[in-house]
Amino acid sequence: MGGIIGCVGNGPVCTVLLRGLNRLEYRGHDSAGIATVSDGSLHCGKDAGRLDEVCVKQDLVGLPGNAGIGHVRWATHGEVSRLNAHPHLDCHGEIAVAHNGIVDNHDELRAGLGGHRFLSQTDSEVLVHLIEDHYQPGVPLEEAVMQALQKVRGSYAVLAISSREPGKIVGSRRECPLVVGLGKDYNFIASEGVAFLEHTRTVAFVEDGETLVLEAGGARFIDEAGRERYPELSNIDWKWDQATKQGYEYYMMKEIAEVPEAIRRALDQDKAVVLDMAMNILRARQVVFTACGTSRYAALVGRYLFSKLAGKFCDVVMASEFHYFSDSIDKNTLVIAISQSGETADVIQGVKKAREKGATILSMVNMYGSSIARMSDRTIYLNCGPEIGVAATKSFMSQLAVLYMLAFTMANRYDEGVQKVTHVSTQIETEMKRNGNRLQRIAALIKDQHSCYFLARGINFAIAAEGALKLKEISYIHAEGMPAGELKHGTLALIEEGTPVVVISPRDFTFNETLANAAETKARGAFVVGVSEERHAIFDEWIEIESSEEIFYPLVTVVPLQLLAYYSAVVRGHNPDQPRNLAKSVTVK
Ligand code: M6R
Repeated sequence: MGGIIGCVGNGPVCTVLLRGLNRLEYRGHDSAGIATVSDGSLHCGKDAGRLDEVCVKQDLVGLPGNAGIGHVRWATHGEVSRLNAHPHLDCHGEIAVAHNGIVDNHDELRAGLGGHRFLSQTDSEVLVHLIEDHYQPGVPLEEAVMQALQKVRGSYAVLAISSREPGKIVGSRRECPLVVGLGKDYNFIASEGVAFLEHTRTVAFVEDGETLVLEAGGARFIDEAGRERYPELSNIDWKWDQATKQGYEYYMMKEIAEVPEAIRRALDQDKAVVLDMAMNILRARQVVFTACGTSRYAALVGRYLFSKLAGKFCDVVMASEFHYFSDSIDKNTLVIAISQSGETADVIQGVKKAREKGATILSMVNMYGSSIARMSDRTIYLNCGPEIGVAATKSFMSQLAVLYMLAFTMANRYDEGVQKVTHVSTQIETEMKRNGNRLQRIAALIKDQHSCYFLARGINFAIAAEGALKLKEISYIHAEGMPAGELKHGTLALIEEGTPVVVISPRDFTFNETLANAAETKARGAFVVGVSEERHAIFDEWIEIESSEEIFYPLVTVVPLQLLAYYSAVVRGHNPDQPRNLAKSVTVK
């Protein structure tokens, strides 16, 4: 995993490439490198470490040339080291290759490349040697790449350059994204448009199995059968400065601050599309949500809303497990895939399987033109702009907003739904202003604990799970979220003196029972943090929320938990934007 970028133009590309990589590093990386071509020679610099460190260590800023490729690596095969960093070179230093994805048959391919000198432990290095084998005199690079990739099983987005053909980048993809950006001074190919937004917003998407030839004068798309394809150009409706910190210390805080606006933008959809989706959901014999991580928790809230507001029961199947349930999927099934990135490998695999079974696919994604959007029969875009922090925050809120809107529409109450969720977005603004200091204090109080538990009932169970995921993901405090009623069935054994227990206990019909469960933890020494509109004697600390209708509590309770996780990460000295071992876009299974 990680990200790749290629750039070719009429001037030097090095700094443009590095800036692009800088925009991609949020996807998660532990090493970085670039390769350029100039005056018939290949220049390459790469190393383990973060991009800025590698830049200094390897003096990347000085690499000459008008064409080049770059890569930020998130290790899958082989340790984090300079030799395992990309780009990889062929035996003669003529070809450089950067790769995202996993080559499943790399062992077999490596065994067949006997005469070649391998320097890394990666699966990716076989690609450059395979291309080398096919890159005979007179054969263009794209031809060699296409022939080489015929032998490869697995997933890839691959970029290649050669000193023999300066001014040309060849790219190809299978199951990993590649988007082309066509600009005035430079043309690009990258894992996602964010990498080049400041140069151009005119994009075209490389299809699965396609090969791309990118030059300063334009791009050629070649399909698997070797035919040229003329893709539609589209515009990414994002501005590049949306992907900057804009004065905030971390992206995560900026993105939480953007929540109210993100909710309003998510609600700003074409009403006809929303009505059409709602009708499809109501008509389907069976409806199954599929998603991972935070997006799956949004699906759990959606399941509750569809049932409560429209009497439509749905199931939620974790995308990594979807395959195992596919026997029950058929042409009468509607699958709703939720994914911020639209590129999560498990979700893609689930959607593929569902399509094979004849199901209809609806999706909710944030990334314009992403794989999941393009595999779906209908898509609603979240419109929350680039989310750079690995922790999903504003995108979760946008997902919830769309789910509320759909559920109300299914109940024939579209206008009421939009109006009420808009109102809640203003309540969230008030709440954020009120709770800052309190949340910082609580974060400081729990910072040395090794475990934390989140309890809730009903619709808020998903928020307990999400609060726990946020906390563990960025602060590295072990956390679990569960229905409060489950506590006595095991977890209570772990509560001891001082264990933090966050109790999501809004003043709804679950209030008394949830507090009774909190009391059981308190009796065993727990440090109880209440999330409620009222302070209660049982709370050691209180996070005040706005009062709302029962079904809207997920929207008002989750933002304080996102902030609690943020402050906990910061007070423990961790960068909340780039948690260890995690990637923003999980493009491998
Ligand atoms: O892009 P997706 O919504 O498909 O991503 C799914 C999960 O990887 C993601 O929500 C992950 O759990 C977040 N990092 C949690 O903050």
